[in-house]
Amino acid sequence: LKTAASPHILAHLPIDRNSKTPLHRQVYNALRKAILDGMLRPGQRVPATRALAEELEISRLPVLAAYEQLIHEGYIAGRSGSGTYVCAAPPDRMLAARPDTHRVGGESNGTLGSAKKRHAPLRAVPLGRDEGGIRAFRVTLPALDQFPHELWSRLVARHARRLAPIHMAYGDPAGIGALRAAIADHLRTARAVRCEPEQVLVLSGSQAALRICAAVLLGRGDRVAVEEPGYPGAHAAVRASGAELVPVPVDDDGIDVEALAALRQRVRAVYVTPSHQYPLGSSMSAARRLALLEWAARHDAWILEDDYDSEYRYVSRPLGALQGIDTRDRVIYIGTFSKVLFPSLRVGYLVVPRSLWESFLDARDALDVCSPTLYQLVLAEFLHEGHFARHLRRMRGVYLRRREAMLEGLARHCLDGLSVVNADAGLHIATLLNRGSSDVAMVRRLATAGLKANPLSQCYIGESHRNGLLLGFGGFDEKTLLAATRKLGELLRA
Ligand SMILES: Cc1ncc(COP(=O)(O)O)c(C=O)c1O
Repeated sequence: LKTAASPHILAHLPIDRNSKTPLHRQVYNALRKAILDGMLRPGQRVPATRALAEELEISRLPVLAAYEQLIHEGYIAGRSGSGTYVCAAPPDRMLAARPDTHRVGGESNGTLGSAKKRHAPLRAVPLGRDEGGIRAFRVTLPALDQFPHELWSRLVARHARRLAPIHMAYGDPAGIGALRAAIADHLRTARAVRCEPEQVLVLSGSQAALRICAAVLLGRGDRVAVEEPGYPGAHAAVRASGAELVPVPVDDDGIDVEALAALRQRVRAVYVTPSHQYPLGSSMSAARRLALLEWAARHDAWILEDDYDSEYRYVSRPLGALQGIDTRDRVIYIGTFSKVLFPSLRVGYLVVPRSLWESFLDARDALDVCSPTLYQLVLAEFLHEGHFARHLRRMRGVYLRRREAMLEGLARHCLDGLSVVNADAGLHIATLLNRGSSDVAMVRRLATAGLKANPLSQCYIGESHRNGLLLGFGGFDEKTLLAATRKLGELLRA
């Protein structure tokens, strides 16, 4: 064949002149299968009808009929003057992605499927960074299988149906009042945060929160102290704003405040995860909390408290937030719904000292105006009606069982290759690999076995680091975790 896509295509066109299936149907079936199997890729050219007919030694008419049908159903599309191409999103894939879609017709009964519309050719889209990423032990996932989809979709549908014009216009950059009030209620009772709704700024998650903190509090080249090891997402957000990171070691009591105080450079702010240190898992002791607040007041510095998953604590009651014991307004509190609901929701919030409110509001407005109002309305009702508190209670039980399964699996299969650092809280467990093992190499090996972990070494900014695996358990049921830890054990021994 003479066209670019042609060389392998003949293998998919086993034309049988003696078959009862008409020739046009055979060509249609074969090309459609080649597209759905990925042999013909989105954006790829399909052979010209004349060339294909010649190659198959059949008349051009059945080929034309097959192409017409495929164009009609949205598998291929013609571009004037340049031939015929595979569409970016073949219709069967779109149907497969929506389990509630009922298909009519199809191969077996000889009808031509349900698509009646002519699909415009879509541009080919490259795969995203995280596509297909729900694999044990991915660290960023809550129990998505346990999410109350029914209830949530009912709320979304109800609010979408009656969305008033005012809710379709640009919204308040601070967030809708009902949601800010519901968040303040939750934070006061569940996290001992001292706040009023007027201090709550709704935004799209911790990353955005850090960008806004940097815009308000930091100048280019200012220094921000961060926990070492610490959260790479925070490192990226702070760096992107032009600030410089200064690593300060953490131990079992949290960030080493003496080391922080001993820094020779002036530090404008410190980013900490006091309730559940990311990645190692410790919680900041009361003495350290007081020392850190004292240091901030003395150095006129800000504390950025990231309270990302503190609702889940297994060894004692959840610890109150650092913000709650701050009497001098040095703490900016960062919260998110990513772990307690789901990350693609992209809703988080800041609790801002009153003296900084106007500056934060301006920075938030400048970033992307406001969060989508529809989801704020849904969330406000979800919180206000008690669904959120119920969901948290139920999830505590789910995560407790998953954590137990994880620890049991690690103890049974993996402890000759790694050791657990801390499993008191949150949705992941930090482990250390035996001396001499590279965590990056190990993570690569896990990927070939369909598993996903994060290397501890990449949470360090400085030269010296430890090798370990960060293993998420929140997103996977007990059976999956037991099987995955067995596999992990085999890889550790290999
Ligand atoms: C330390 C830490 N902070 C915050 C988050 C959540 O980030 P976001 O609100 O941007 O989804 C995560 C998620 O993995 C995290 O590990």
